[in-house]
Amino acid sequence: MKLSFSSFQARLPLLAAAAVLAAPAMAQPLRSGEAVYRAVCMACHDTGVAHAPKMGDAAAWKPLIEEGQDVLSAHAFVGVRAMPARGGDEKLSLEEFSRAVAWLARSAGGNWQDPDAAMMHRIRVEAEKRLDDDIRAKQELKAALERQDKEQPAR
Ligand code: HEC
Repeated sequence: MKLSFSSFQARLPLLAAAAVLAAPAMAQPLRSGEAVYRAVCMACHDTGVAHAPKMGDAAAWKPLIEEGQDVLSAHAFVGVRAMPARGGDEKLSLEEFSRAVAWLARSAGGNWQDPDAAMMHRIRVEAEKRLDDDIRAKQELKAALERQDKEQPAR
């Protein structure tokens, strides 16, 4: 009796490790836009840090809502001016991020819903386009620096 109990005990850490390894494979339910807002975006969008458009501020959100859900969600996700990519949360998925954008738009009079599969596709395509533009601009800057280095070699 004592022996089998201790052998079970000996296996406990292994069982715990197996549970941890299995966890990421299980699909996590998506958080609501409001939950993501509270966890990630509120820090800046409640008070308007660095001119972040404030939650519920219809005047500030009107021109943003006019850009369209796919364009605005994609550009904000990739990062725009003082708005950090993913709201600064490296683990935040595009879909949860986009739900938070829709929630912010609704808070300010818009009628955007949680994106469906078709909207998610359009947001991804727009984000990829924006990233391509960023990459091209960075490559041009790098090429210009390389040219300068050839023209003015170190002495
Ligand atoms: C560290 C502060 C900060 C956090 C956190 C943050 N934002 Fe922002 N956000 C900003 C600022 C500042 C701007 C205004 C950018 C500008 O116009 O210079 C902005 C702008 C935006 C815009 C408008 C983008 C545009 O094209 O003008 C959207 C949409 C947005 N944020 C969504 C979010 C969402 C959703 C989250 C949370 C997942 C979030 N933000 C988290 C600072 C933040």
